[in-house]
Amino acid sequence: MDIIRSLETMHALALGWRARGKKVGFVPTMGYLHRGHTTLIELMRQRCEILVVSIYVNPLQFGPSEDLSRYPRDPEGDRTRCEGAGCDILFMPDNLYPPDFRTTVSVGGVTTRWEGAERPTHFQGVATVVCRLFGLVQPTVAMFGEKDFQQFTVLQSMARDLAMGIEIVPGPLVRDHDGLALSSRNVYLSPTDRQRALSLHRALYLMRDHPSPVAAERVAAGRAALDCDHLDYLAIVDPDTLEPVERVDRELRAIATARYGGTRLLDNVALSP
Ligand code: PAF
Repeated sequence: MDIIRSLETMHALALGWRARGKKVGFVPTMGYLHRGHTTLIELMRQRCEILVVSIYVNPLQFGPSEDLSRYPRDPEGDRTRCEGAGCDILFMPDNLYPPDFRTTVSVGGVTTRWEGAERPTHFQGVATVVCRLFGLVQPTVAMFGEKDFQQFTVLQSMARDLAMGIEIVPGPLVRDHDGLALSSRNVYLSPTDRQRALSLHRALYLMRDHPSPVAAERVAAGRAALDCDHLDYLAIVDPDTLEPVERVDRELRAIATARYGGTRLLDNVALSP
């Protein structure tokens, strides 16, 4: 595995692969990699000839009161995990934005609710960094985890709307042995909050397995089962538009974000009628 820090080197390599018609797979991350990430990397390994993983903690997607400076980092561990999962190129730029950077990418519709309402500049930051990374890495196919379900929808919309010619593939949400969705932010949870946080996936499973076809009844049951300090949202939505639905009559998603102490945790499950 090669480690590349320079934007110019990354771009020159990518253009060479493109000229030779190579199938390049890409898994963008913010580091502090866990089994959720290595699962994506291993799955992408099977779909491409050259596999690039990026690690960059993107300041543009953090709001002013969010945890950018204390976002967890483990460059040595990340390196070992990437190599073990079959990565060819680990792209770890120190900075991704030149001083005269002046473009933002803004996706409409699917960004307005949920995470978009709680964190108004977040998806613009995500779309902008992913667009820039796509330009530098020139992937054929890119994978984003379904743990951040709305992010996946936003990035799939961006690639489609801008005719980027990049296949956007969902990666599975990976859970810990007790069911908690794996996230780099789980490290912030106190032992008590980690226990309480198990109510998040349990509430979603309850909504999935509930017999009522009325979405509001399932949401009420999930809400009653949830033990958290603050519920940002809990909803049943159409997986393409992310609009809330009234009836569970097709493939849908139950999505939730709740706070435990100062930590926001996201989770979701697929629902069928
Ligand atoms: O999901 C993440 O880790 C980030 O939002 C991403 C897609 C790497 C962009 O910074």
